[in-house]
Amino acid sequence: MDEILRVENLKKFFVKKGMFGSKTTVRATDNVTFSLKKGEVFVLAGESGSGKSTIAKLILKSIESDSGKIFFENQEISNEKKNLEIIKMNCQMIHQDPYDSINPRMKISDIVSEPLEIHNIGDKNERTRRVIEVLQEVKLEPAEEIARKYPHMLSGGQRQRVVLARALALKPKVILADEPVSMLDVSIRAEMLELLHDLQKKYNISFIYITHDLATARYFGQRIGILYLGRIVEIGPIDDVLLSPKHPYTQALIDAISEPDPDNLHKEKRIRINEASDVDVEEGCRFRARCPYVIEKCKTEPGLEKVGEEHFSACYVKLD
Ligand SMILES: Nc1ncnc2c1ncn2[C@@H]1O[C@H](COP(=O)(O)OP(=O)(O)OP(=O)(O)O)[C@@H](O)[C@H]1O
Ligand SMILES: [Mg+2]
Repeated sequence: MDEILRVENLKKFFVKKGMFGSKTTVRATDNVTFSLKKGEVFVLAGESGSGKSTIAKLILKSIESDSGKIFFENQEISNEKKNLEIIKMNCQMIHQDPYDSINPRMKISDIVSEPLEIHNIGDKNERTRRVIEVLQEVKLEPAEEIARKYPHMLSGGQRQRVVLARALALKPKVILADEPVSMLDVSIRAEMLELLHDLQKKYNISFIYITHDLATARYFGQRIGILYLGRIVEIGPIDDVLLSPKHPYTQALIDAISEPDPDNLHKEKRIRINEASDVDVEEGCRFRARCPYVIEKCKTEPGLEKVGEEHFSACYVKLD
């Protein structure tokens, strides 16, 4: 499969000001490398604060990286205007909170046609037609009626469909979906995921699906990258990573959501993440403060090493 998007050694640190003038550096994205293949769903998973949204913002250039490279269809995307246009035309974002991306004072028709206007696509009639078409695609019907409404007249699930319609308007090749269902009522999440899944297949859209929910990740994705404090600690085909995780952090994440397995309860080193020491360590493996397998060598930061077909883990200890 050809790749459509690639990030190489992407880095973004933030300086946070604390009380009494103290400053701490947050390594939000630290040397992140991965690629997105044409037509695949790549999942970025990790706890809150692991850097998922920062990576999406860096790709869309809504924030500047400190260093690293981004390639779209093998062309490096610099900060030149023509390059930014490539990204803005081809990659769309779906945010967690629909209110982040829709203006409550605009009619649905204007919200959905806005990207077409910004990029000067079609005349007024063509844009109106496209708006109706995409509203139907996301199953907001009768589309003509919905188009005349304002966001507050819709339910939360309908508003998220408007966001999706707006993202689809430009026929993007890539969609970055940042926790697209987490703000929705549990009862309508499955429906929304199914819609995303169907549209992804129908138009062969390449997806970066950002979530901390490993169950939906597995439903939707083909490959996954597990982030821990700004670094990918494990990456590979989704079943390999989730069914035979190699990194202690991935194992702990999976453990946290699985039913206790009687065979596992007696495992000598069943992982218990030490929540109290969830702190970034200055150097070495940043998981070592919480890791039950820590060894002397972990004082130097491990890189990703091959542990299977297209499967990589950043850990010195070889777990099975
Ligand atoms: N503009 C900013 N200024 C300072 N720190 C920031 C900024 N944006 C993000 N961070 C910090 O960078 C780290 C990564 O944040 P990010 O939002 O990417 O995490 P996330 O994985 O998306 O988390 P969540 O699951 O809660 O959405 C966090 O520690 C966050 O506080
Ligand atoms: Mg986030």
